[in-house]
Amino acid sequence: MLHGRKQINKRGSSMNDLSSPLAIPAVTGLGEKGLDITLPDGKTHYFNYYWLRDNCPSSFSPVTRERSFDIFHLDVPPRAKTAELEGDMLVIRWQDEDHITRLPLSWLETYAGGKSRHDPADLSRVAWFGDHYPSVPRFSQPELVADDATRAKWIEAMLVHGFTILTDMPDSDEGLTETAELMGCVRPTFFGTYFDVKTHINPTNTAYTAGALELHTDTPAEEFAPGIQFLHCRVNTVEGGDSLYADGVAVANDFRQRDPEGFKLLTEVPIPFYCEHDTYDARSRQYVIELDQHGEVEGLTISQHMADIFDLDQKLLDDYYPAFCRFGRMLQEEKYMMRFLMKGGECMVFDNHRIVHGRAAYTATSGDRYLRGCYVDRSEMRSTYRALVSEGRFKA
Ligand code: OGA
Ligand code: ZN
Repeated sequence: MLHGRKQINKRGSSMNDLSSPLAIPAVTGLGEKGLDITLPDGKTHYFNYYWLRDNCPSSFSPVTRERSFDIFHLDVPPRAKTAELEGDMLVIRWQDEDHITRLPLSWLETYAGGKSRHDPADLSRVAWFGDHYPSVPRFSQPELVADDATRAKWIEAMLVHGFTILTDMPDSDEGLTETAELMGCVRPTFFGTYFDVKTHINPTNTAYTAGALELHTDTPAEEFAPGIQFLHCRVNTVEGGDSLYADGVAVANDFRQRDPEGFKLLTEVPIPFYCEHDTYDARSRQYVIELDQHGEVEGLTISQHMADIFDLDQKLLDDYYPAFCRFGRMLQEEKYMMRFLMKGGECMVFDNHRIVHGRAAYTATSGDRYLRGCYVDRSEMRSTYRALVSEGRFKA
């Protein structure tokens, strides 16, 4: 009998022989602050009473799907009077409260040992190199609108490769916003909810000239720079203006091997960025190489045109500047650099914390070049992806 009904008294002695494999699963002890239970994985795990009480299924409203139970106002700390197994449920009767909590063992197993909840959006990144252009994942925009499964594949490609190209974009001003909203809410910046890249008479940004734009990530002076960038090419008939892209993960992973000391500095010393004009004065400090919760490179924040004067210890700069330059030169190596000409009707979508982008100079009088851009945050993208591919906790 695997899921027997076994009652435990308060001193924790089971009525079953716990040395027998038949005792699994079993509650093996009721302590003062929590209980021990042997789960179907064969291991004994400890669970805290506050946690068990707070996460009783009855604590959550099926309507709002939020927790409606108030753990702050229990009269006394929660403590189990009895805990027993009924089928594949742990059933707890509480000592100072007329309440019964029933928790599936499989659910307990997903949190056993302080494990983080599985995240379907936590996908491994695949680094790419300069020859990647023919393999860039491409999606037709109307298909994304029509089909959620294709939309999920698009976002998955963004999570894994950080760069996709959309084709058959609507030739309208609204087309870009409508497309970005397939991923999440548009994230405004100090440029507003979108920006137009054309040559300006009085440019406030190097991008608004016909000059070359070195590899960079956008708006690093924002405290939280936007996560995903959309660049919708409406027309591109000029001479020059090649698009340049490189995968910051590919370069930083190689830098980690080639130059461990430099890598350490770029991941541990934040540097200042700025964006200043008459009505705004954005400032931030960022790590050039960003690591994720697993210690893996998740991306970069870099921009020579928006790097502020490094107000750091000058002795530290003896080491920092050379490392910064070694990395900056490495970013521009041909091995990593993907070059191509954007076509009208395409939209580049890329992770602004991972992919560096730039462009070659162009001749402003040789034709038209017009891009409209906007951003969505990474967390919105992940949220949309999870909702598309997983059952979640509350879906019927
Ligand atoms: C920008 C930018 C790229 C381009 O506006 O920040 O990188 O191709 N533009 O003009
Ligand atoms: Zn840019």
